[in-house]
Amino acid sequence: MSSETFYVTTPIYYVNAEPHLGHAYSTMAADVLARHHRQRGDDVFFLTGTDEHGEPVENAAKKAGVTPQELADTNAAKFEGLMPIIDATNDFFIRTSDPRHTERVAEIMQRVYDNGWVTKGVYEGWYCPRCADFKTERELGPGNTCPIHEIPLQKEREENWFFQLSAFQGQLEGLYEERPDFVVPEFRRNEALSFIKGGLEDVSLSRPNLKWGLPLPWDPGQRMYVWFDALLNYVTALGFAREGEDLTDRYWPADLHVMAKDILKFHAVIWPALCLAAEIEPPRRMVIHGYLLMGEKKMSKSLGNVLDPFAVIDRFGADALRFYLFREVSFGQDGAISTAGFEQRYETELANDYGNLASRVLAMVERYRDGVVPAAQVDATLAEDFEGAVARFGDLLDRAELTQALDLVWALVRRLNRFVEETQPWVLAKDEADPERLDEVLYNLVEGLRVVTLLLVPYLPGTSETLLAALGEEGRALAELGSREGGQKVERVPPLFPKIE
Ligand code: MSP
Repeated sequence: MSSETFYVTTPIYYVNAEPHLGHAYSTMAADVLARHHRQRGDDVFFLTGTDEHGEPVENAAKKAGVTPQELADTNAAKFEGLMPIIDATNDFFIRTSDPRHTERVAEIMQRVYDNGWVTKGVYEGWYCPRCADFKTERELGPGNTCPIHEIPLQKEREENWFFQLSAFQGQLEGLYEERPDFVVPEFRRNEALSFIKGGLEDVSLSRPNLKWGLPLPWDPGQRMYVWFDALLNYVTALGFAREGEDLTDRYWPADLHVMAKDILKFHAVIWPALCLAAEIEPPRRMVIHGYLLMGEKKMSKSLGNVLDPFAVIDRFGADALRFYLFREVSFGQDGAISTAGFEQRYETELANDYGNLASRVLAMVERYRDGVVPAAQVDATLAEDFEGAVARFGDLLDRAELTQALDLVWALVRRLNRFVEETQPWVLAKDEADPERLDEVLYNLVEGLRVVTLLLVPYLPGTSETLLAALGEEGRALAELGSREGGQKVERVPPLFPKIE
């Protein structure tokens, strides 16, 4: 297998509040892809972190009676602390208040200025302080409200610096044409492209009233609009993530930015233009997922309807959470989640379909064959259903189809359960005349279990480790049915998904 680099990122999260399940979701999605690429033998770099400047943070700090840096420190620690809890294997955690980041931002923005892409002007528009973003007329909610935060917006007028986004319209259209998968899913690509084709306006680059932001290198009296500082994290991080090493040439351009649709415009329109203006190669691709909804509303800190990922994991475990979210909500679409739905899938799918299958198979190998997997032939009917599974799974994840890839594996898990029912090994065990058929059935069940568990490594990192160890599997590379011969010793495991109290 040839080793390629795979650089995947999440949005960097605002530190004006604590992490919630929505943040965990994007991070787990990026982690699934990072783990999958490591299994393929790729050279992976996975970045996440926190976005610490800007008005929302300044305001939240004021409200809490602390300095913005203090608030940033407190909440960044919570975001960073979330990573091991959701089993995210990020290679670095960037904080935009890190001077190593801010120095690089200043250099890059100075270059944008020197290249002539910055002009002075007057801005008037609808500003949402929670988004830290000006809304165009077509983005406004009813009664001039923010469509995301549902708060009334005020018209603001100010003198400031502008990034000449409009100058990049042609190049952006060219980029979209050249790379049909620059933004996936396709309906998001179309959304971004029609926004571009609708005519781009220059975007405000600085805020005169802001205190908690980076000074513009060429006009230190003005502070940088937080999005420029934030977007650049994807590049700056590579310069200092490893002590004494610059990883930029190794990993840039990023292979995949993961995010929800709320920040599509910044990433799919402004970001590639900023890259071009700064002579940075634009990223390769981005995947836009939907919102986790509680009832019918987006789960968000400002709406106050969030599920606390720490509490959910306390109860169900990180694997179950990862599994539930990618299985329940079709990745790319919005989807409602609920504790009841969670419990149901935990029981019927994780505990029954998969956990019981594993326990039964291992128990039968122990009971009937002293824990040694018999060497036998691949069952023809099973082989048909497993045919090409690894390649199909890889193709789906290449398109960031996290739900479809998981569905594919689950169909195989269910196929193995049917195989148990069809072959009834406990009946075969009584028939001493045909021990070979029992050998064959047990061999195929162990093989099937091994193949699906390897595929599940990115989704169920903890459980798959336990099970692969019990199966005596040393490597973690994906495998086809029948690629291991039998003869290995297996061990029983305690219930992988115990009953929840
Ligand atoms: N700081 C900016 C991003 C800068 S990236 C250069 C920001 N931060 S945020 O804290 O608001 O995070 C937004 C992101 O969090 C979404 O794009 C998404 O990845 C994730 N989500 C937040 N709430 C979510 C849901 N309810 N559902 C799905 N994803 C959610 O925007």
